[in-house]
Amino acid sequence: MNPVDNPYNPGAGAPPPELAGREPLIEKALATIQRAKAGRAPKSMIMLGLRGVGKTVLLNKFEQLAEAQGCQTALFEADAERSLPEMLTPQLHRLLLRLNVIKRVGHDVQKAFGQLRAFAGVFKVSIGEVEFGLSNEVATGDLAIDLSDLFVAVGEAARARNVAVVLLIDEVQSLSRPDLSALIMALHKIAQRQLPVLMFAAGLPQLAKLAGDTKSYAERLFDYPPIGPLDEDAARSALVAPAEIEGVAYHDAALAHILQETERYPFFLQVWGSHAWEAAAQSPITRKDAEEATRRSIAALDQGFFHVRFARLTERQLDYARALAEFGPKGANSTAVAERIGLSVKQAAPIRDEVIKKGMAYAPTRGEVAFTVPKFDDFLRRKMAEGTKRGRSAKA
Ligand SMILES: Nc1ncnc2c1ncn2[C@@H]1O[C@H](COP(=O)(O)OP(=O)(O)OP(=O)(O)O)[C@@H](O)[C@H]1O
Ligand SMILES: [Mg+2]
Repeated sequence: MNPVDNPYNPGAGAPPPELAGREPLIEKALATIQRAKAGRAPKSMIMLGLRGVGKTVLLNKFEQLAEAQGCQTALFEADAERSLPEMLTPQLHRLLLRLNVIKRVGHDVQKAFGQLRAFAGVFKVSIGEVEFGLSNEVATGDLAIDLSDLFVAVGEAARARNVAVVLLIDEVQSLSRPDLSALIMALHKIAQRQLPVLMFAAGLPQLAKLAGDTKSYAERLFDYPPIGPLDEDAARSALVAPAEIEGVAYHDAALAHILQETERYPFFLQVWGSHAWEAAAQSPITRKDAEEATRRSIAALDQGFFHVRFARLTERQLDYARALAEFGPKGANSTAVAERIGLSVKQAAPIRDEVIKKGMAYAPTRGEVAFTVPKFDDFLRRKMAEGTKRGRSAKA
């Protein structure tokens, strides 16, 4: 069918035509925002899930909800190459400028600006033309203390204006340990003071453990909703609803095939939906179209989505990943993976840690390791089979 009308939207953070199956979480986020606005202690949330489950899309949705509620928001994606002060300062600066517009009188925003200047000064961050460093407020150079003071100042300015501040942080597993620890401590301080500052964060599943290891109270301070594949009804509506708007239907057998192949992962549903649309000559989309979509989707993913991740691994990390892939989608015990590549657990541990650090794998439970990218094990096994085939034909 006409690609111009193709409603599906595969991509990173690309808003889906139908945000299926996340209603309970969206309601919860809305209630949390409203609680914060009403001056009640809100519980911050860290959404955890594998690649392509829809975490970024949800964060963007929460940002819209917060803005619709008149809250001030700051959204950024954590980057392992940058420090938290570097990423946070411009965001908080913008946020304070907007808070300042709400009510120009009062020293509280000026105090928060002063705190931010001191903070930026001590952590050597500058943004644009703004002069940082000269301030009546003080910063100690200890990130946990200074961030707590800064959050308190921002929270007090927000409270005086009856608004809440909503921080939205994506890829939060990329924060360094000291940065993560300081962030948790600052939010802890905010919770104790009952100030209207709230965080919605998203990250890969290893984060819960990281946060808990960093500060044991982090377990109680946040909710950690797991974000996973959609349930059957939601997965069906993720495919059907956007097509329906264009007057296009699916045969049940086509839907069943796509649900099975995608394992109901949101990103894959968009990929398959998009290819099924293009493979079909007309409505309804048939099982044959869906099977063609599977061929095209796998070919496209192998060249793009999977390949870029594969290309990021060094030779020894690849050996590790290949061994892990042999165990299937659920991953394996680290000891078993080490044995498979003929290394001791001690020798394999640093390689495993590198693969985890690259965001390719995580530890579902202690001693276990699994891929963060759904179906990456299938991809690696496909590649190995191709390699073997090529090897055989070269010998022949
Ligand atoms: N609830 C949903 N229903 C249908 N499609 C969805 C849903 N959530 C996300 N998608 C689609 O899935 C894809 C991935 O979404 P998103 O980038 O938010 O995932 P992510 O969890 O942030 O992935 P990553 O960890 O790689 O950043 C996008 O194409 C998006 O349109
Ligand atoms: Mg994302």
